[in-house]
Order: sequence, then C-alpha cells, then structure tokens
Amino acid sequence: MLRTHTAGELRASDVGTTVTLAGWVHRRRDHGGLIFVDIRDRYGLTQAVFNPSASPDAHKIGEQMRGEYVVQVTGTVNARPAEMKNPNLSTGEIELFVTEAKVLNAARTPPFMISDGSTVGEEMRLKYRYLDLRRPDLQQNLILRHKVINFIRSWLDRQNFIEVETPILLKSTPEGARDFLVPSRLHPGRFYALPQSPQQLKQLLMVSGFDRYFQIARCFRDEDLRGDRQPEFTQLDLEMSFVDMEDILALNEQLVIDLVTTVMPDKRFFQVPFPRLTYDEAMNRYGSDKPDLRFSLPLVDVSEMLKGSTFRVFQGALDPTEIPNGTVKVLRAPGLGGYSRKQIEELEAIAKELGAKGMAWAKVEDGALSGGIAKFLSAEETKALLAATEAESGDLLLFGADRWNVVVQVLGRLRLELAARLKLRDPNIFAYAWVIGFPLVEWNEEENRWDAMHHPFTSPLDQDLEKMESDPGAVRAKAYDLVANGWELAGGSIRIYRRDVQTRMFELLAIDEERQQSQFGHLLEAFEYGAPPHGGIAWGLDRTVMMFAAEPNIREVIAFPKTAAGTDLMTAAPSEVDSRQLNELHIALKGKALERQRSES
Ligand code: AMO
Ligand code: AMP
Repeated sequence: MLRTHTAGELRASDVGTTVTLAGWVHRRRDHGGLIFVDIRDRYGLTQAVFNPSASPDAHKIGEQMRGEYVVQVTGTVNARPAEMKNPNLSTGEIELFVTEAKVLNAARTPPFMISDGSTVGEEMRLKYRYLDLRRPDLQQNLILRHKVINFIRSWLDRQNFIEVETPILLKSTPEGARDFLVPSRLHPGRFYALPQSPQQLKQLLMVSGFDRYFQIARCFRDEDLRGDRQPEFTQLDLEMSFVDMEDILALNEQLVIDLVTTVMPDKRFFQVPFPRLTYDEAMNRYGSDKPDLRFSLPLVDVSEMLKGSTFRVFQGALDPTEIPNGTVKVLRAPGLGGYSRKQIEELEAIAKELGAKGMAWAKVEDGALSGGIAKFLSAEETKALLAATEAESGDLLLFGADRWNVVVQVLGRLRLELAARLKLRDPNIFAYAWVIGFPLVEWNEEENRWDAMHHPFTSPLDQDLEKMESDPGAVRAKAYDLVANGWELAGGSIRIYRRDVQTRMFELLAIDEERQQSQFGHLLEAFEYGAPPHGGIAWGLDRTVMMFAAEPNIREVIAFPKTAAGTDLMTAAPSEVDSRQLNELHIALKGKALERQRSES
C-alpha cells in the first residue's frame, strides 16, 4: 500500500506516530516559510505542514505541489495548538509534520476548483464529471446510494428473496413511455427494445416458481425528462407469489422503516403505520396523486355552497352545460392576507401556466372577506366559505373554478408553492403514504378509448369485476403507489393471473387478438401452464436516494447522468457512427439525420 492511513482517519490518539498518506492536493497555502497542504481523499482532509528548516527536501517538493496533484507524504502526527484546532474537520485536532514527500502525478489546472464545485455551472460539471465526482458532497451521495442498495439486498436476502438478472436486449415491455430500440445486425430490419422495466420477466419468474424475486434493475424510457426523471434509471424491482395487496404493502413498509432507521437515523417519520389515501382522496384533497403530507393546506370543495353564486366564473364552472364535470375549490393561504397585488399576480401566473383561466381570490378580515371577488359573494356564501376553510383573519383564499381535473391540478401546484413560501417542507421529516384505489383504466380523449392506468396486467378489485363492461371508469385496480414528501417513490399491483379476466381486460383496452399475440403472446402462453396468484412493486431507487440526500435533482445521486436533453456531455453521446457500422445494421439515414451526417462528414 502507498499509504498507512486515509486522509480522514487520524485523531489526537495518533499523535507521535509516523504515517504515510496519499491523496490529492485540495488546497495549498504558502506562508513564505511554512507551507500548508490539505490532502484529500474520499475519507476526508488532513493538513500536512512542510517546514523548510526541519525538512528542507520535503519542503522543496511541497513548493512544487499544486491543486489536484496526486501526492504522497510521510511524517509525524502532531497535536494542533489549541487555537488552530478545527472542530468542523474529523482530523481537525491534528496535523502532519512532513518529513518525506513525493509528487505521484502532476495535474492540469482543473476547469473548476473541487473545493467550490457547487458554484460551477452544471454543464461544466457534467463535462468533467470525473472531477465533479471528487467533490465530497457528491461522493457522500454515491456512498449513501451504495448503503441503501446494500441494506436492501441483505434485508431481502434475509426474507428469502432471490436476486435474478433479466436481459437488457429484449422485446418491448411497455410502461407508457417510448422504447429505446437496438437494431439487430444478424436479423436485418429487426430490433431489440431496452426494457422500460423487467415487468413481464418477473411475472414469468413467478410462473417458474421463484416465489420471491427482486432485482436492482436498470430501466430505459424514452420520455420527456424532468428533475426526477432520467432516460435510464434504477429500480428496486420486486415480485411475490401467493400474496395479496396487504402482504406486499406490509413487507415494503417494513423495509422502508428498517432502511430509514438504519441509513437515515436522524430523520423522523410523519406517521407510522404509513397513512393510506385513495386516489380520489389524494386528488380531491391535495390535487396530486403523490401528495406531500408534511403540511396540511387541503383543497376544500365549495361547489355545493356556491351553487347559486352570482359570480360569472363560479356559475360557469357549476353549470354542466357550460363546463362538464366542473367544480369550485378553495385553498386557504394562512397568514398571506397581507399579500400585495403583485404577489397575488405571481400566484395567478403560476395558475395560468397550468391552464387555469384565472385565479380568483379574497382576503379574510375579522370574519368577513375583502378585495378580489369578495363583492360577488353573499353574506351567507361568505359565512359558509369561512366555516368550510376554517379561515382566520389575515388569511388569503385562492379559488379554482373549472373542469375538475384543471382545478385540482392548478390548486395542487399552488399548494406546493404556498408550502415553499411558508417554509412548511421540513427536510427532516419523511411523510410516507400509500395511495390506493386507483382507477383500472382512464379515458384517452384523443384516441377515444380506455387506457390501462398502470399496465394491462393489473388486476381489478374483486368487487368491481362486474363493472368491467358496464362502467369501466368506475372499476378500481389492485394497484398502489408509495409516495413521500411529494415524490412518487414506488408503484405496483396485484396481477391478473386468470385467463378469463385477462381477456376481458384486453377487450376493454381494445387490444385485438393479433396484438395480444404479437406483444404478449409469450406471457399469455406462460399463464396457461399454471401461473400462481402474484403481485409486486418497483421502487424508483434514484428517487429514494434523492429524497434521502435532500437533493432537488436526480442527477446529484447518479454517477454519470444525462442532461435534460438526454445527452452525456462527457462522452458526447449520443453521437454519429460511421457509415460502415450503419451498413452492417442495414440502416440508412434519411431526412434531417441524413442532412446532418452529410454536413458533418
Ligand atoms: P412504474 O412505471 O410506476 O412501475 O415505475 C416504478 C417507479 O420507478 C420510478 N421511475 C423513474 N425514476 C426515474 N426516472 C424515470 N424516468 C422513472 N420512471 C419511473 C418511480 C416509479 O414509482 N413495472 C412497474 C412496477 C410493478 O408493477 O411492479 C413499473 O415499472 O419512482
Ligand atoms: P374576470 O371576471 O375574468 O375579470 O375574473 C374575475 C376574477 O376571477 C379574476 O381574479 C380572475 O383571475 C378570476 N378567474 C377567472 N376565471 C377563473 C377560473 N376559471 N377559476 C378561478 N378564477 C378565475
């Protein structure tokens, strides 16, 4: 070994010993005589002192050292004078008096200082990701990620789960996004699809009898990227046989509790056992199917009490001939009654961005309403509104009046905005909850048909089976999402395992026999050879780590992530390939791609 200790290891108890460290030059301060060099590795920082009179040869080497040089230093551990102790550093009680030094490798001046990487633009950070990854906070994120995965693996192992790897080159496994395709050289005109999840394979493993499967699985989805989405991401994928929904929820809840208690011991749960909300409750009350429950701020439905309103906007929303499925809801902004016109307009702009036609408002003052639309409300309506919202003097009421889905989406987003402004999102609380009772299918207006809300193998609730043909929209699924602090962290379902129910589901989704066979033939056939009742779930592992690390962006917990445009700035992927490769794959470029190839060659 080129070192006896790491740079995060030495303590006061080591004073007097001779040690050798190897690492990077984090910072170098030349005080004319003494040179101080902070040596960095992933374990921490140690201050090395080069003294020209005590060790002139080592001091000469110290003079050559620059930021990010890789160096090796040997010396004695010394107690720092009391006033020089650094309580913020694990090695802050000591320093190393260097007697021998060596530059193991010089370094170019990095494009940004590792010590203040967080002030650098993200493009630069991603282009030089290997340098960015030297930053202690990113290293901590990846170490945390490792700990999470490690904990999950051994926990599931103790519960008799078996990790099975499934292929990456496969057939399309739809989860609602576009596939990434891989052309086949040996089979001209044919393509593999990268899995959007191992969904079908884990179900096949249940047919094979692996009654408790899991996998830390890479998934690929070609979809619009956001702060919590990457085109390739990692799931904790899990499937179990001979279980019902309660078994899966209970097992996952215990795994989460044990994981958080072990890996994030300083965090508190909002509520244990995790509360359960139906999809309808979540949408109606919080305007989101992944509600942040750390704060209340509920949306209050006031349609009933405003039925006779003289205010044009409310009238329109509550008149089914004008707006089908219309509703009026209120969000109470506690203490924001002092908001200026400009501040209210900012909120209205957010509402409009999301498709609202406006954002009516009124201020609460001494048991009455003032400003905004107050003048359109009768005394009786005002009284009912104040009671329903439990509003107090100094509050601001925000109204949404439109189609139900517009209102809940807009007010749900405003709810989050208010929580941010009121600083209600305590990062030390994890508000896990289960969302259940999802509809089995949702109506696709554009294509005039029913779509599976989860996927076509999700089982309907037994008591709703009879409504599959007569009232499909009212059928609820044995599906569940695990949410926390406003993130959707996991989702899954109990699967259909009986052929007759599967046929009815395909009929409902208007998937004809031919498509059933071409897309899912292997799975349907497998189900005819004795499929056990089964169900499962998949966690977005990156999202879990992201929440643990309190990072606002998923990229901060992935070693080599893609940009929002799906590119890798370090390797410049995706990139052109030469025409020989394309020929081998029987692929000819056309249109824009061809023009681009010509202009670049
Ligand atoms: P689902 O599509 O809900 O279910 O995915 C499960 C979880 O994966 C995470 N996730 C993502 N994370 C980062 N980037 C993405 N692009 C992305 N897409 C999804 C979310 C989500 O909750 N096969 C089913 C699971 C099952 O039924 O067992 C599935 O994949 O946290
Ligand atoms: P108007 O009569 O269009 O000037 O609107 C009066 C108030 O109602 C304004 O504050 C608008 O922002 C608000 N408003 C208009 N349409 C809606 C709507 N669909 N939902 C909530 N508020 C609205």
